[in-house]
Amino acid sequence: MSGEEGSQIDQESRSSVRIAATSVTAMEIGIHRNWSKSVRQVHRWLSIAFTLTIIGTFVALVQEEPAAWVFYMPLLPLVLLLLTGLYLFLLPYGTKWRSGRRTAAGN
Ligand code: HEM
Repeated sequence: MSGEEGSQIDQESRSSVRIAATSVTAMEIGIHRNWSKSVRQVHRWLSIAFTLTIIGTFVALVQEEPAAWVFYMPLLPLVLLLLTGLYLFLLPYGTKWRSGRRTAAGN
């Protein structure tokens, strides 16, 4: 009877250790997920900014003497789109690499 109780406590403490370990992992994953969500959102809005600058270049094209700087305007959002886009592209590989590392460590 008491042995059974003891094993029950053992099991409980073991499961709470497991829960604590899982919480750290979940927190890490949560922070990472929040960050990638923000980058995705920034990429989304940059695409709108980029589209507007492209429309701006078309408007400039029909002007008599268009200002040269208007044609360089799409480059800024495009460079930022490239950086955030490459980050989004590499995300799944980073997740796979990280989970692989955990499994290899045996934790
Ligand atoms: C310049 C290089 C760019 C790269 C490397 C790139 C890369 C990516 C990647 C990897 C994704 C995530 C796809 C997924 O797994 O769901 C994405 C999403 C997206 N991209 Fe780009 N992209 C680029 C430029 C652009 C441009 C020029 C536009 C539009 C003007 C654009 C609009 C979007 C939108 C709207 C999404 C979906 C965002 C969301 O899920 O909310 N991207 N891009």
